[in-house]
Amino acid sequence: MTTRTSYRAESPETIDAVRTGILTWFERHRRTLPWRETRDPYHILVSEVMLQQTQVDRVIPYYHRFLERFPTVQELASAPVAEVIRLWAGLGYNRRAVNLQRAAQAVVESHDGAFPHDLGQLRALPGVGEYTAGAIACFAFEQDVAFADTNMRRVLDRVFAGETGASWASLSGVAERLVPAGDGWRWNQALMEFGALHCTSRKPLCGLCPLQAECAAFPVAQQPGTRKPVKQEEAFVGSNRFYRGRILAVLRDHPDTAGVTLHELGAQVRDDFSPEQLPWLVDLVRGLESDGLARVAEPRASYDAGPPETRIALP
Ligand code: ADE
Repeated sequence: MTTRTSYRAESPETIDAVRTGILTWFERHRRTLPWRETRDPYHILVSEVMLQQTQVDRVIPYYHRFLERFPTVQELASAPVAEVIRLWAGLGYNRRAVNLQRAAQAVVESHDGAFPHDLGQLRALPGVGEYTAGAIACFAFEQDVAFADTNMRRVLDRVFAGETGASWASLSGVAERLVPAGDGWRWNQALMEFGALHCTSRKPLCGLCPLQAECAAFPVAQQPGTRKPVKQEEAFVGSNRFYRGRILAVLRDHPDTAGVTLHELGAQVRDDFSPEQLPWLVDLVRGLESDGLARVAEPRASYDAGPPETRIALP
């Protein structure tokens, strides 16, 4: 088998065939997802932030619960941050919750509660990167823009570069030419879905692919094996991210806004906790504090020295 490493010249015919192939595939295979039924930019933002590190199936119930509790950007903006963090429990990467609320506050305070349409202004919202700005512009405002998550990028890299790990800078030109005028919403949903379900990282369905004739990587060599959740789990348990999660779980479950002492906190996050581990604990709490996920209730000065009587709470 030969491996092509050079870029395909994308003729208008190739562009057209790739578009048609993916759009036709989409009509047959698309999932019904709640955020595909709305054009509300706030709802789109919530879905995209949740989907940043979490699988679709896990996101769906959180998405509904979150919007039930905070149906509008104003309601999210004015909520106690502790409540937003509590509602996020179980989704992980909790900083996303804090940033999402900060983005809502920026929309209310700087844009009178109406999401900007402009990519640059969207990009300026807290936690909103190039991808999310593009997703809001396209999925809420139906702008014909090109943007790409990992899945979309992989499809473009395979089809047009032969799976060379091409950068977005080198793919964005063809990505823009692919967006059909007036049909950007459907195209980007289709490309995303094709990358998520068909042209997957490890097991792309090349044998059934509508792009066999166009794809520079066809057929993609199958990656051996599948993900090894056991090994990942082992690496995660005992990591600082693991303990951050444990600390946050203690704070979330603690009804008292006065919080818990560092000593109690340490004892609740690990059975073998001893006073020598206070500097380690203080470090983790500082990290949570700077991410807006925890608050040093009192007394500030003694916290800096890390004594056990300092109390920690949700912000
Ligand atoms: N992953 C990230 N955004 C998504 C979306 N809008 N639909 C499905 N999966 C996604």
